[in-house]
Amino acid sequence: MAGIKTLTMIKPGAVHKRHIGAIFNMIEEAGFRISAIKSVKMTDEEAEEFYAEHKEKPFFPELVDFMSSGPIVAAILLKENAIEDFRKLIGSTDPLQAKEGTIRKLFAESMSHNAIHGSDSDESADRECSFFFSKKEFLEKHP
Ligand code: RTP
Ligand code: MG
Repeated sequence: MAGIKTLTMIKPGAVHKRHIGAIFNMIEEAGFRISAIKSVKMTDEEAEEFYAEHKEKPFFPELVDFMSSGPIVAAILLKENAIEDFRKLIGSTDPLQAKEGTIRKLFAESMSHNAIHGSDSDESADRECSFFFSKKEFLEKHP
């Protein structure tokens, strides 16, 4: 059964442009419950660890530079079918491909500065939630 938990980050560009409120408004309107939330500035090493699956990709240095360039807002979101529904809400990685009304269509500047992250599987969500939050900070069930 698909899990109810996903991890999001509002990326530095969208934080800088003061889109935090508008984006979380869309997330709550779409039926997600914000279960834990914090603002942090990642070091290069932390961004490298978070995106380790991409370390051999040509875009990795730019991705790490960008993700450590300013504060991000990380949050654990709860909803039935969380991973798939959230990936639909944020839209394609490349904003030019993203559907109308998706968060990336509305707020992304480019493929690398694409406003928001969403976990891609239940396993990734577990790893990513533990990356930012201690166990006592997150709930496994809808309150
Ligand atoms: P994310 O992990 O940030 O939610 O994005 P995603 O799943 O939609 O895309 P993913 O394949 O995991 O890539 C992670 C981030 O790397 C940048 N990227 N650039 N220039 C490129 O070809 C390219 N491909 C990926 C994007 O910023 C993407 O969000
Ligand atoms: Mg990804």
